[in-house]
Amino acid sequence: MDTIHIRGGRRLKGTIPVSGAKNAALPLMTAALLTDEPLTLANMPRLADVRTLSKLLAALGGEVSIDRGEDADVMTVHAKDIRSTTAPYEIVSQIRASFWVLGPLVARCREAKVSLPGGCAIGARPVDLYIKGLQKMGAEIDLVEGYVHAAAPDGLKGAVIRSPVVSVGATHTLMMAATLADGVTVLENAAREPEIGDVANCLVAMGAKIEGIGTSTLRIEGVERLHGATHRVIADRIEAGTYAIAAAMTGGEIVLEGVEGETFGAAISVLRAAGAEVESEQGAVRVARNGERLQATDVVTQVFPGFPTDLQAQFMALMTTADGESEITETIFENRFMHVQELARFGADISLHGDKALVRGVEKLKGAPVMASDLRASAALIIAGLAAEGETIVNRVYHLDRGFERIEAKLGACGADIWREKEKH
Ligand code: UD1
Repeated sequence: MDTIHIRGGRRLKGTIPVSGAKNAALPLMTAALLTDEPLTLANMPRLADVRTLSKLLAALGGEVSIDRGEDADVMTVHAKDIRSTTAPYEIVSQIRASFWVLGPLVARCREAKVSLPGGCAIGARPVDLYIKGLQKMGAEIDLVEGYVHAAAPDGLKGAVIRSPVVSVGATHTLMMAATLADGVTVLENAAREPEIGDVANCLVAMGAKIEGIGTSTLRIEGVERLHGATHRVIADRIEAGTYAIAAAMTGGEIVLEGVEGETFGAAISVLRAAGAEVESEQGAVRVARNGERLQATDVVTQVFPGFPTDLQAQFMALMTTADGESEITETIFENRFMHVQELARFGADISLHGDKALVRGVEKLKGAPVMASDLRASAALIIAGLAAEGETIVNRVYHLDRGFERIEAKLGACGADIWREKEKH
């Protein structure tokens, strides 16, 4: 397996182009299953998860073609005929978002057989909300040997669905399913992450009727059919936030190109409270820290526009060298603290108390060999390594490659001493 090596202690300075959002790109790809016409997606990030989902779409009968651009790809998915409505374990177990083909398949083909999902091991991550929502829309659901079988022989029917928990994936799935249902579906307590809005806008471009985009109540009036469209994937606020934290951690200055300040939600005020300067410029965000030490800052992860759980590990890395004690509370996933023991290898002082981590800032981190445990946790280890004295080796970087495009190249261009060693075969 590849490893990433970092010699820490350099300030980051420069410009980083922010890639298209993984968490929008993946559901947008599944939306292509809703129509027999081509869906063209611009600003696609080059990520392992995108390649894995492409394989699944191809297995279902979609033709996936890619135009490689200088900075980003343009992908066209043409699901003219759906050859198979089975999404196999071998693929769905690799990324959770591939489970989301369930909604489009059952809406268009009136049946689907989708393996229960995999993805990052960051908690139980059940699928009850997807199942209850589709049942309310008239689907019959059975669980057989690790697969969800959904059948709606007469098509899905509009329904009012109030989710007890805000779920990004269930919102994507039910919103897509509702676009082709008979009648009106209202999704109450829907997720309103910017990526949901991006997918909703694409569905509207495909002919869907959706009201309430950007709010927690989505009203979807089903239509007979959707058509092809061209859509540009929004910028990745988690990638941008990760580099913003890296800039703050190393006391550098970075311009994040292609991202707007408002998509950061609460992350901006948290970074400012910790002592970073964050300014929105036109089509970019500038993040800097002058020589002063970071301030310990408490944070609670919340659904958008709250502080995102996907930046929790990176923010914890930042707090390891802050002045004072910070309390980090994880409210979205119950098991998302696997990075704590790895950060301890750098000399960080962190104790866990249920859903809270107490981080006591130390003067300096020291480089260490570490193991990436999940996608966002790997980014936290990179951030710690950038600031640590000496060399850090990050193992299991395939987690990183699932969600961060060319991370060594982007950081290297800003002066980081970072390189990848390819596995020798
Ligand atoms: C998506 C994101 C992930 C992010 C997460 C929360 C993608 C590809 N992934 O994951 O990066 O960390 O949102 O912002 O976009 N839940 C249930 N029952 C369900 C579904 C979810 O109880 O049927 C719970 C989960 O266990 C979790 C909470 O709802 O506690 C939020 O999870 P959810 O928003 O569904 O996360 P994902 O869509 O899997």
